[in-house]
Amino acid sequence: MNIILFGPPGAGKGTQAKKLVDFNGIPQISTGDILRANVREGTELGLAAKAYMDKGELVPDQVLIGIIKNRLKEQDCCKGFILDGYPRTVPQADVLAVILKEIGKPINVVLNLEVPDEVLVDRISKRLMCKCGASYHTVSNPPKKDNICDLCGCEVFQRSDDREEAVQNRLKVYKKQTQPLIDYYAKQGLLVTLDGTKNIDEVFEDIKAVLAKFA
Ligand code: AP5
Ligand code: MG
Repeated sequence: MNIILFGPPGAGKGTQAKKLVDFNGIPQISTGDILRANVREGTELGLAAKAYMDKGELVPDQVLIGIIKNRLKEQDCCKGFILDGYPRTVPQADVLAVILKEIGKPINVVLNLEVPDEVLVDRISKRLMCKCGASYHTVSNPPKKDNICDLCGCEVFQRSDDREEAVQNRLKVYKKQTQPLIDYYAKQGLLVTLDGTKNIDEVFEDIKAVLAKFA
């Protein structure tokens, strides 16, 4: 299965991607996690990306296209992949189509998690995350042990772009640059929109029901 998990900041893309990895064993490709790892490691890419990320702006398309091209060609993608946070612009989607044609792995479905802005802001402001990419919420999905990641045992923290001003900008940027992809994939018959306001397990059940149609 080649899946795009789509939705605004805080919609639950990362949360559902992690559950899907456990469920069907295909890798999650989160461009946000890849960029944050580069920021942590102080790479040239990370240094260039950090200024955009902290303001809630998109990192330039050429940078992301390079990342995704290399990542999709890795061996672990041979049975499929879950794209989380890519594509986010029409040029990114166009290039993705070309890459996937080249490697013979078309997208099966785009799962669009729909969540209203006020819920997104609440989720993001109460999010805790881990450097392994796991995401928690202080109320709806706290780590089992206070401030410790369930998956890897590291300390969880607040993301630098989860501050109020950056969050508002991320929502604006999503509406202007990313939301047009909803029509883009609907026209290709690939879009399935799900109610992302249900609880985490209910959303996952809905996702499994959609994926079962492709089995
Ligand atoms: P990225 O890391 O992709 O962030 P995002 O798209 O803003 O989305 P989030 O990670 O904030 O939300 P999510 O949908 O994963 O939600 P989560 O599962 O964590 O990108 C960050 C930045 O990197 C961008 O701003 C940009 O600068 C750059 N970037 C990345 N990709 C790029 C690209 N392709 N092009 C250009 N730039 C790029 O859940 C959120 C919270 O809600 C958590 O606390 C979670 O526990 C909770 N939660 C989840 N689901 C539920 C539920 N159903 N009910 C209740 N709580 C829930
Ligand atoms: Mg995420």
